[in-house]
Amino acid sequence: MKSLLRRAYFAMLKRLGGAAVRNPRFIAAFAAPGIQEPMVTEGFVLTRLTRYPLSRPRLDFSDTPYDYVRIGSLQAVAARMLAAEVPGSVAEIGVFRGAFARHISAAFPDRTFYLFDTFDGFPDADIELDKRLGYRPWEQDFSGTSVEEVLGRLPHPERCVVRKGYFPETAAGIDDRFAFVSVDADLSKPIYDALAFCYPRLSPGGCIFVHDYDNHRYQGVKQSVDRYIDEQGVSAAFPLPDEGGTLVLQKAHGGRR
Ligand SMILES: C[S@@+](CC[C@H](N)C(=O)[O-])C[C@H]1O[C@@H](n2cnc3c(N)ncnc32)[C@H](O)[C@@H]1O
Repeated sequence: MKSLLRRAYFAMLKRLGGAAVRNPRFIAAFAAPGIQEPMVTEGFVLTRLTRYPLSRPRLDFSDTPYDYVRIGSLQAVAARMLAAEVPGSVAEIGVFRGAFARHISAAFPDRTFYLFDTFDGFPDADIELDKRLGYRPWEQDFSGTSVEEVLGRLPHPERCVVRKGYFPETAAGIDDRFAFVSVDADLSKPIYDALAFCYPRLSPGGCIFVHDYDNHRYQGVKQSVDRYIDEQGVSAAFPLPDEGGTLVLQKAHGGRR
């Protein structure tokens, strides 16, 4: 009986927590200026609500729920790279509506930011290729976006260079180095092409985040990253426990690959 009551009590707490998190008054009450990016998934919020006393530092829940681990990692990596003055531009390959690009722009306000996307969803040929290779890609529709929408979302649109169209064709003529790149194109061909283009141009100390490396819905990502690492070698590769399973590649200092 006691454990039944206990379970009912915790179920009620969770329900109340979920409702509160979606309530604008709750969001406003907990918004704390100065804490940049809360980005919590609902599960994470619930954990906090039930396990942490309210006297803990307050998180700002005012932004859309998004991947806290990936964004926090970007911010930590960016702070370290800026302190070490790692030279180069930044880029994202696979932008869609700019949800992550917004954070890259904020984290690297003074760097040139290349945005690569069709802005019209997956190229048919790349989807067909992954199907033929047996990767069973998740055919999500990423067509509902536009360059204007994305630029309107970024804090520093004046630093952006938009390359709309099929990657890697859209990379032609770019003679630049990179400090940070987010590769989020989901399918095996653009992932491999992105690494082949970006890694040789990555500054020592620079990082590439490859999203969906550990995502069973896009099995071609892991295949391409592993193939690139086997063929070309990279200095360091380590995973993040974020949604989608990002793999971070970092280039070492001192002339090593
Ligand atoms: C998962 S979405 C990107 C999500 C985005 N990073 C975000 O923060 O929401 C994948 C994107 O990759 C783009 N993409 C995939 N293959 C591409 C290619 N070969 N050339 C250009 N864009 C491509 C798609 O158009 C789509 O917008």
